[in-house]
Amino acid sequence: MHVNYGVGMTRTHVGAFSTVAPGATICGDVWIGERVFIGAGAVVKNLVSVGDGATIAAGAVVVADVPDGVTVRGVPARVA
Ligand SMILES: CC(C)(COP(=O)(O)OP(=O)(O)OC[C@H]1O[C@@H](n2cnc3c(N)ncnc32)[C@H](O)[C@@H]1OP(=O)(O)O)[C@@H](O)C(=O)NCCC(=O)NCCS
Repeated sequence: MHVNYGVGMTRTHVGAFSTVAPGATICGDVWIGERVFIGAGAVVKNLVSVGDGATIAAGAVVVADVPDGVTVRGVPARVA
């Protein structure tokens, strides 16, 4: 519901009111919560969960679960 995305995804859950910006790569069994923002060009690795209200910076490579409400950035992504 009200999800905006610019990327193809397989076996991925995206919660309500979340945005996946163009160029992001999300493949496999990924769980994305509600009100999440995933920046342009970010990569989210298989089997990762992104908590409600989290922000993934543009270009970040997410290799571990992201808690609710947290912003991560960089390669590999760390808490901002
Ligand atoms: C992560 C983000 C939300 C942070 O925004 P912000 O809170 O305004 O952050 P700032 O611009 O004040 O930068 C804060 C710090 O984060 C760093 N930073 C900002 N964006 C970054 C990114 N994408 N990757 C790595 N570091 C980043 C800055 O260099 C700065 O570092 P410093 O404290 O060492 O100087 C934002 O930079 C971002 O990536 N937005 C996504 C944009 C996007 O993809 N839009 C979709 C277009 S279609």
